Amino acid sequence: MDVRTALKQGIAQLREAHVPSYTLAAELLLLHVLGRDRAWLYAHPEAELAPQDAERLVAFLARRAAGEPTQHLTGKQEFWGLEFEVTPDVLIPRPETEHLVEVALDRLAVREIRASRPPKTQGAGLLIADVGTGSGCLAVTLAKELPGATIFATDVSAAALAVARRNAARHGVAARIHFIECRLLDALPPVGARHDVPASSDASPVTSHESPVTNHPSPATPHESQATSHESRLLDLIVSNPPYIGRREAPTLPREVREHEPELALYGGEEGYELYAGLIAQAAACLKPGGLLVLELGHDSLPAVRPLFDFPAWTNVAVTNDLAGIPRVLAAERTNR
Ligand SMILES: C[S@@+](CC[C@H](N)C(=O)[O-])C[C@H]1O[C@@H](n2cnc3c(N)ncnc32)[C@H](O)[C@@H]1O
Repeated sequence: MDVRTALKQGIAQLREAHVPSYTLAAELLLLHVLGRDRAWLYAHPEAELAPQDAERLVAFLARRAAGEPTQHLTGKQEFWGLEFEVTPDVLIPRPETEHLVEVALDRLAVREIRASRPPKTQGAGLLIADVGTGSGCLAVTLAKELPGATIFATDVSAAALAVARRNAARHGVAARIHFIECRLLDALPPVGARHDVPASSDASPVTSHESPVTNHPSPATPHESQATSHESRLLDLIVSNPPYIGRREAPTLPREVREHEPELALYGGEEGYELYAGLIAQAAACLKPGGLLVLELGHDSLPAVRPLFDFPAWTNVAVTNDLAGIPRVLAAERTNR
């Protein structure tokens, strides 16, 4: 069978199975099997598939038709122009999450301008946290964009952290990312955090896991965070794309998501927005005055999340829509109170 026929048949099979973006999926699977790029594919439509490649393609197409995400079959997904390893242990990085990086870098540039420095910052000396790092796409991208920054990447999933560590190594930034197994920012307490942070990216878990991991809000409250002194606060920037889908929405999710992506990465609770209150309270306790919190929002999270910033701890609160017009990123600046 030649390449053109294989592609045509693959497209037909996936269309028949109601696979979303079936043409792209068939093309990506064929490219993966051949180990070629798109330019080669369209330059060599008559090339014959080796029998073992044809067999692998048939198997991949069958799995895709049965609902497995393309990225689980190819093992990769591009984010911010970088290739990330993806396994069933991590959320597949989404294009809308790139807005988080844009907003974070824009806000840092504004800080530089305010300080009468050139807007393009190398991030020298910045301390950043990525809460719920998953594949590490945000931590790694920020480490690449800000070569002077140090990053703490937390997740409750040890399996996800293993993938994130490999992605950091793949992109040459492992030495500047400390991976920490903990809930939210639990292992980055504001007081003494400067002395307690792990010295290497192979840091062992900092917190114990006596209770089963569920996404209950953190016990910290805005009042506790207000009591934190300026000097003890550590971080310049916190980014997070927390789990924000409501469990009650599960039946409406595409099967690729519902059946194949990790529950811990999807569901924030029954409603979806349950993790934000704890995260925002902890962020208030960890951010330096002028520090930035940049959060991804679920499609309907804004009404529940925006009021959590009506508190003297925060200023310059702004919402950015994604390309579909959905309020997707909320950014806020920590005051000096
Ligand atoms: C929506 S995924 C985001 C992954 C990645 N940052 C991205 O944007 O693609 C959420 C991640 O948060 C982790 N997570 C869930 N609950 C958490 C919690 N309470 N504390 C820290 N991480 C949590 C999940 O394991 C998952 O990796």
